Amino acid sequence: MPAPMITGWGKCLPPAVLSNADLETLTDTSDEWIVTRTGIKERRISHAETSDLAAVAGRRALAAAGLGSDDVDLLIVATCTPDRLVPAAAALVQQKIGATRAGAMDLNAACSGFLYGLAVADQMVRTGSMRRVLLIGAEKLHFFVDFTDRATSVLFGDGAGAVVVEAVEEAGGLLAFELGADGTAAEILCVPGSGTEGDPGAERRARVQMEGPTVFRRAVEAMGDASLRVLEKAGRTLDEVDLLIPHQANLRIIEATARRLGLDAGKVMVNLAGYGNTSAASIPIALAEALEQGRVRPRGLLVFAAFGGGLTWAAAAYRWGSRVVPMGISGAALAPGGRSARELMEPNVTLYGKGV
Ligand code: ACO
Repeated sequence: MPAPMITGWGKCLPPAVLSNADLETLTDTSDEWIVTRTGIKERRISHAETSDLAAVAGRRALAAAGLGSDDVDLLIVATCTPDRLVPAAAALVQQKIGATRAGAMDLNAACSGFLYGLAVADQMVRTGSMRRVLLIGAEKLHFFVDFTDRATSVLFGDGAGAVVVEAVEEAGGLLAFELGADGTAAEILCVPGSGTEGDPGAERRARVQMEGPTVFRRAVEAMGDASLRVLEKAGRTLDEVDLLIPHQANLRIIEATARRLGLDAGKVMVNLAGYGNTSAASIPIALAEALEQGRVRPRGLLVFAAFGGGLTWAAAAYRWGSRVVPMGISGAALAPGGRSARELMEPNVTLYGKGV
């Protein structure tokens, strides 16, 4: 009986690096505070648009699956920072990679978007409606970050990660998933004024606002408890888990979640030091790096867990397939940018800076 499986994976990180030392020059913070409170050392700032990052990650995932763009039936971009509201970033990606046969849509569940998308992709393939889904998590978050606000500016970064989900003759794949939301907590993590509620005459761009400690507490509860529930649904135990791949928001959130689960730190994928929180892109980027580093074993049991604005949360118990190496490598790359991270986010500093 064929099962939907991830057969390709890829990532795209823009080249410009914004370090903690750079942030020290913009807001009242320090490398020491950022590293001890978040685990983040640097993050990427994109010169390209969300759909460009997504297209490169998508091409790399297709090559890893040994497929071409014509093989894609459905293209989903999980993002809360699309290039435009209309058309969807997915439609732009469809055109950029030449996936002419594919339907295309965006999915916004903030940082949980990739796992929401994984559930949708899985069900589409499981029912036989689609043979191959290209699922991409992509964000250009820095556009909405106020670099003079020390509470949020240290956390976020840009990037994209992608997977191909297709039916293969192997048992496994998504064993169980949970998708959750609590809209009563919408205000604790949001970008007010970024949609139709916005003031048409506003001089300032909408920006991320967050009640950090509340989000922290809710994140640990949601990711920990949802992980346990999906394992139970799948009839698996924590002892059997080979690797937890959590949303990369804050090292202390990840460590507290692992403690809540009673999971050994060696079984947790962490790569946020270099990228910060890339929202819907964080799990597919971490998955691609776990594979590159040989941390996903053939037929291994993975748990994915995420939380984000909404509040939303999601978790999945996942039995990996027998192949852990890519079928091919894509030469896709971003067009060169030529500007430093500091130069790229200068408009944000001017927009949000004192006196505006
Ligand atoms: N540098 C220096 N000091 C800072 C900084 C900073 N960057 N940010 C806050 N502080 C100060 C505060 O002002 C406060 O000072 P005070 O005690 O004098 O008032 C002190 O540090 C402690 O502040 P807290 O907010 O209580 O610090 P906390 O340990 O909770 O860490 C953080 C803050 C990192 C934001 C943490 O709460 C967190 O990670 N929360 C979750 C955030 C998150 O994951 N967001 C993304 C969600 S995913 C999505 O959907 C986008």
